[in-house]
Amino acid sequence: MPPDPDAPKSQPLRAGSAPSLRGTAWVPGDKSISQRALILAGMAEGESRITGLLESEDVLNSAGAVASLGAAVNRDNEGMWRVTGVGLGGWRAPPSALDFGNSGTGSRLMMGAVATTQVTVSFTGDASLRSRPMARVLDPLTRFGMRYEAQGPKALMPLTVTGAANARAITCDVTVASAQVKSALLLAALNAKGESRISQKMLTRDHSEKMLKGFGAEISVEKLKGGGESVHVTGKVALRATQIEVPRDPSSAAFPLAAALIVPGSEITLPAILLNPRRTGLIETLLEMGASIRVTNRRVSGGEEIGDLVVAHSSLKGVRVPKERAPSMIDEYPILAVAASFAEGNTEMHGLEELRVKESDRLAAIADGLEANDVTFRVTQDSLTVHGKGKVRGGGAVATHLDHRIAMSFLTMGLASEKPVTVDDTAMIATSFPTYLDLMRSLGAVFDQVA
Ligand code: S3P
Repeated sequence: MPPDPDAPKSQPLRAGSAPSLRGTAWVPGDKSISQRALILAGMAEGESRITGLLESEDVLNSAGAVASLGAAVNRDNEGMWRVTGVGLGGWRAPPSALDFGNSGTGSRLMMGAVATTQVTVSFTGDASLRSRPMARVLDPLTRFGMRYEAQGPKALMPLTVTGAANARAITCDVTVASAQVKSALLLAALNAKGESRISQKMLTRDHSEKMLKGFGAEISVEKLKGGGESVHVTGKVALRATQIEVPRDPSSAAFPLAAALIVPGSEITLPAILLNPRRTGLIETLLEMGASIRVTNRRVSGGEEIGDLVVAHSSLKGVRVPKERAPSMIDEYPILAVAASFAEGNTEMHGLEELRVKESDRLAAIADGLEANDVTFRVTQDSLTVHGKGKVRGGGAVATHLDHRIAMSFLTMGLASEKPVTVDDTAMIATSFPTYLDLMRSLGAVFDQVA
């Protein structure tokens, strides 16, 4: 096939060894909370105000989708947005397919949000999103009476959803460890008559539950015997507009944090980072590895725990990361694999099956990147063991497969490896962390364009 002249140009970049990283790293707003803020505000009655919103491609696509469905979405200033919602059941048919770009969260949550409103909505996205399984969220949503048409048995995009006219509450056990699937069902339950009960054995991030309380939803959480929990939502209770302060994203903070740990002489501060216990698995793991991470000034902001992190270069040692911890650090395994490459000894990571269905097959992308940079490891279908030797030769060229976290992880590796590391594309970093390169340069990182 001849190359597509309209295809976005890839932006390769090389990271070379940095002298030392120093300064204050203000990472942007949390992606999960930003997505939820826009969608819930779109479903509420009245005008919600959001501050600290992450203005990345994924979130802007969700803002566009919420507006296409009939809500009034206005940006007043950097991170400051106002959304006047349509009220439960008030979505109107969008003029064209909603394009979610790279965003699994935006698209899957929106499938739930429209599932119990009588409206037909088409969904599409970029090549990465079009390869990701949607059956995991669409099939349980059909229990509300929603119908869909999609591509093949995994229900790939482009796809069309027709929401149910008179949905009734359901009881559903979510068997995948996915907050997106749980959240989609909770959003659908808001406009279904009666009390829905959505249970899950693994404890995934709970931002939807917390934020729904803030919007006045009737929602409660019951701990289940033998682990897990069941979330109960009473449908047809109107959401009331509210104010949302978005805390700073720990999954973005992970990149400068890990860079400071592996680049000798570094010391940085990361202020006001979200420390919801369901998101702090990486910090817990790095502390076990001997990382110098001090959490100061712990406080609550916008209903979520936050704190400042002071991070200094550290000698790391390998550890075993149990599979139960995976949901609380699911997006952080690529950067943990990089940190583990600079540790002494083996770091074993278990319960990684969900990494196979992220923005790329992340486990394969991590393995290929480690191999290209002369790091030894063992990978299975759902585990990874990195054999750390305290240093990394580097010099590799890494394929990012439209995956922002693979790009940022291997750029981080290049800052501390003996030879520079090249990634084939950095354009996708804008899906979650548009200020990443500038922020890292301000701390002392060195990146070079590649011809
Ligand atoms: C997210 C949940 C996780 C995570 C994603 C954001 C969310 O996905 O990987 O980046 O905001 O709910 P899964 O629900 O597929 O695990």
